[in-house]
Amino acid sequence: MISLIKGFRDIAPPDVELWQHVEATARKLFSDFGFSEIRLPIMEKTELFARGIGADTDIVEKEMYTFTDRGGEMLTLRPEATAGVARAYIEHNMAAVDPVRKLFTTGPMFRRERPQKGRFRQFYQLNAELFGVPGPAADVQAILLLVTLLKRLDTPDVTVHLNSLGCPECRPAYKALLTEYVAARSAALCENCVRRGSTNPLRVLDCKAPDCRVAMIGAPAISEHLCPACREHFALVTEGLGALGIQFELNPRLVRGLDYYTRTTFEVQTTSLGAQNAVAGGGRYDGLLEALGGPPTPAVGFAIGMDRLLELLAENGAKVEPRALVFLACLGDDAQKLGFSWLCALNLAGVAAEMDFFGRSLKSQMKRADRLGARYVLMLGGDELNNRAAVLRNMATKEQEPVPFASLVETVAARLSAA
Ligand code: HAM
Repeated sequence: MISLIKGFRDIAPPDVELWQHVEATARKLFSDFGFSEIRLPIMEKTELFARGIGADTDIVEKEMYTFTDRGGEMLTLRPEATAGVARAYIEHNMAAVDPVRKLFTTGPMFRRERPQKGRFRQFYQLNAELFGVPGPAADVQAILLLVTLLKRLDTPDVTVHLNSLGCPECRPAYKALLTEYVAARSAALCENCVRRGSTNPLRVLDCKAPDCRVAMIGAPAISEHLCPACREHFALVTEGLGALGIQFELNPRLVRGLDYYTRTTFEVQTTSLGAQNAVAGGGRYDGLLEALGGPPTPAVGFAIGMDRLLELLAENGAKVEPRALVFLACLGDDAQKLGFSWLCALNLAGVAAEMDFFGRSLKSQMKRADRLGARYVLMLGGDELNNRAAVLRNMATKEQEPVPFASLVETVAARLSAA
């Protein structure tokens, strides 16, 4: 048997039904908020991610599935979607139609991390990206969309963490301060943090190693080093969230794992998934489009980790009721033949229906109907053929009624929709 690749998985029935419910709820809400869908390729030129996400990030340094194709081009299975959405926005010159564009996308992402609870090598994200609005209203709208979706899905145990990472005006001075702080404590830090100290010191704030955490307790906080414009932007974001009654925690250590962020960053965290505590993450990335060769374009967005969200919902007992189904139990060749034509007619009329194709006994057909969770069984045998009426049995109440062939589809459809 050839099995799955490590860190990859199938999402099969009955789990997939909860995924579909989440996706349908999201599609409706995203459309209410004015977001249109964009479908992107899952593979892009490696350069897009190297430039977009940042060469010194874990993702680009060690997690991407990159290969040279037969034409000699370096390609990568996307580790995230934002760089691809930004590429598409630039490539299709969307700003020319209307610079304000709201796009969402969903699908698989690939990162070669160590698999564990809530962490896969192929995982799914639901992304929302809002282009062209520099002001704090866009940040507030993105966060409102995210928390509203989580609320509509009854997601348990989630907290919004919020920070500002400043901008090219104020971040360099803060980074220099942090580099100095890290250098002075290099003896206490892990190897990775010592190296990051000079290239990407913000990431040291995020290291999970206990010694690094202790060493970084007194580190300067970016919130104390924002320029006036970033400070005002952040104040307006928190004010806007407050006005909408959205609760959040200020978290000066929230640095995120991608380098394109400017100003607002946020994460939805949970305590229910062990080490993988981020259910969603996002922020503003005002410099990304220009870095990718596009026009300067402010942008903000987020991605929900669907695998983690679904795990949280399932742990909370969320279930999608299976669709109400009628099972056709047919006895004898003639009934079987007619049953098949009723099955087709019911399916074509939008009624979920199943039947037995093997000429089994009534008892074993009823057993199968039970296993499938059928709400009704439509029984068809010699008598029914003679009377030109089938018998419809309600599996819960055991009540039976004759249903004339002339109104069979309508009657079964009505009973099932009432169920
Ligand atoms: P990210 O924080 O790297 O951000 O990923 C977003 C979410 O994807 C995480 O919070 C987590 O739930 C999920 N996720 C990440 N890696 C894995 C994994 N290996 N297994 C399962 N779930 C995972 C981004 O990707 C940004 N592009 C978000 C964004 C959109 N920022 C602005 N716009």
